[in-house]
Amino acid sequence: MHDQAERLRARMQQNNVSRQTRLITVTSGKGGVGKSNFSLNFALGLQEKGHKPILFDLDLGLANLDVLMGISPKRHLLHLLQPDMTVWDIMERGPGELDFIAGGSGFAKLLQLDDAKLDLLFARLQPLQGYADTIIFDTGAGISNESLRFMLSSDEVILVTTPEPTAITDAYAVIKMLHFYNPRTTIRLVVNRVTSAREGTMTAQKLVMVAKRFLNMDVHPLGFVLDDPHVSKAVKLQRPFLLAFPHAQASRDIRHLSAVYLGKEAGGRQSLPAGIGGFLQKLRRFIR
Ligand SMILES: Nc1ncnc2c1ncn2[C@@H]1O[C@H](COP(=O)(O)OP(=O)(O)OP(=O)(O)O)[C@@H](O)[C@H]1O
Ligand SMILES: [Mg+2]
Repeated sequence: MHDQAERLRARMQQNNVSRQTRLITVTSGKGGVGKSNFSLNFALGLQEKGHKPILFDLDLGLANLDVLMGISPKRHLLHLLQPDMTVWDIMERGPGELDFIAGGSGFAKLLQLDDAKLDLLFARLQPLQGYADTIIFDTGAGISNESLRFMLSSDEVILVTTPEPTAITDAYAVIKMLHFYNPRTTIRLVVNRVTSAREGTMTAQKLVMVAKRFLNMDVHPLGFVLDDPHVSKAVKLQRPFLLAFPHAQASRDIRHLSAVYLGKEAGGRQSLPAGIGGFLQKLRRFIR
């Protein structure tokens, strides 16, 4: 009897842990390095492995992710402020049954909302806690005020770069900025458009080493994606490459990277994610 109760309690605890929602902001220094394609296909990669991600477009005004998915969202974040709206009403289903929320111009306006509206918005986002394992925010080119606030409020940041020196220098500038505001930010590094595995590993190692030496900051390499013409083909088809070309090199790389990510999550992490509640609390501090 006692054993049975113990087992039940353990299982409930396990369920609780798996229902923790982790928030990730995807960013880069230089624009156009592949953040949106990464965010979309990484979300699908996690979903393929039984996870439940939600993709959020934080790119102000420039409808990016919806074009990559070939959908036209009817609602965005600030529609949540209309009477009787729920978060389920503003959620779109993208290809591969991926849940998607468009930011519209909502993220810039977020910073100007009065307290009552902010309370309402945040209360209406709360049901996402426990619904999704992972919420992925795709940010636009350059570091805006809003994207910085999202990075600092998230559980972790995925920094995307290419092996080009300009992209690497700009990626380092992002690391430096995050270090300045919060040296404990968890930063994972993805090197996109590499011509070989060796180039991917070397680029990551270089950045990790520089961040350690000059900032004493740990940057965690997550993986690389090869430069693959299927990516551009998929963009033109307005389909995620993971679905349009499941056997292409870029798709294989994303699948591998998703598996590595989930392996890390299961094993190496010490702290549980702060979840939606923790995220909104931090964001509110930055807004006010
Ligand atoms: N692994 C890859 N192999 C080949 N081409 C790629 C790869 N990743 C991205 N690209 C190309 O780069 C283009 C830009 O990608 P994407 O829109 O994802 O970048 P971004 O970082 O989101 O841009 P922005 O900063 O404007 O938001 C894509 O349309 C595609 O042509
Ligand atoms: Mg983009």
